[in-house]
Amino acid sequence: MAALARKTRISASAAAAEDALAADVVAGLTASPKRLPPKYFYDRAGSELFERITALPEYYPTRTEIGILKSRAAEIAAFVPAGAALVEFGAGSCTKTRILLSAAKVAAYVPVDISGEFLNAQADVLRREYPDIAMLPVAADFTAPFDLPAEAAAMPRTGFFPGSTVGNFEPHEAAAFLRHAGRILSPGAALIVGVDLVKDTELLNRAYNDAEGVTAQFNLNLLARINRELGARFDLSAFEHHAFFNRERSRIEMHLASLKRQRVSVCGARIDFRAGETIHTENSYKYTLESFGALVRGAGWTTAAVWTDDEKLFSVHALKLSDAAPGSRVKEAPPSG
Ligand code: AVI
Repeated sequence: MAALARKTRISASAAAAEDALAADVVAGLTASPKRLPPKYFYDRAGSELFERITALPEYYPTRTEIGILKSRAAEIAAFVPAGAALVEFGAGSCTKTRILLSAAKVAAYVPVDISGEFLNAQADVLRREYPDIAMLPVAADFTAPFDLPAEAAAMPRTGFFPGSTVGNFEPHEAAAFLRHAGRILSPGAALIVGVDLVKDTELLNRAYNDAEGVTAQFNLNLLARINRELGARFDLSAFEHHAFFNRERSRIEMHLASLKRQRVSVCGARIDFRAGETIHTENSYKYTLESFGALVRGAGWTTAAVWTDDEKLFSVHALKLSDAAPGSRVKEAPPSG
């Protein structure tokens, strides 16, 4: 009986997720210009493709951020009080988390992610490696209010938001997220954030147009997912991956361009494409240290420290809630190796 109730609950939540996908897809494809929310990139196939992106020679952010975290681990760990709960917004890379768990003296690790399955698998791996740290995964949308587990709620808290995921929000959404993180982590908390930096256009364009075509597959997987989950019939060979740096808006834009005039029916809605018309699938904002500092201040945080690699490709920021902030300092990480 309990098993049946559980199964019914699971299928009810899967049906709700499918309804949300269908509603967002129809709304996005009937809008002008057409768009799709980037959060739908990350089904199982998309998450695997993203893992491959992070290892591509052209995609500098992941290895550069790991280099900064490793070379500055002790300084970054100084922002994590002994006995704290480390709250990670999203549960991505175990590699980055391990650097902090090894350098700081945390009592609990609280990864928060919508994908419960992925979270629990990750927590099991880390539990074996760090038996003295309480692993307390929370399956929730980290951009919406959620409750910390009671055990963690009693501890001082430090937030961790690596990977420049903050760049996938519109700037006003990024500010709203930082305010929300402040409410979850307060009082006196710190937040460690990874932020990709504005740089040479060619380098940026290469990072999102890799020679192997993995980023193109990642982008096209959105249409493949809509076919799989909503029974649509997108012909993937009739769409092309476009990614370019829009310097005026300081963002990489990803689009899927229709190679011909075509009509696709999705959940009963007829979607017409002109030849060359695009679906806007992602923005990845690139900040300067100054522009990110201004965003942070507007959201009630103060920059307590910033670390970059020697080429200033990527940055890691330690933020403190404004009423508890010490002076700000900016440093360059020594060349690693
Ligand atoms: C997850 N996020 C920070 C990546 C980025 O660079 O904006 C997603 C991505 N899209 C294409 N390549 C990587």
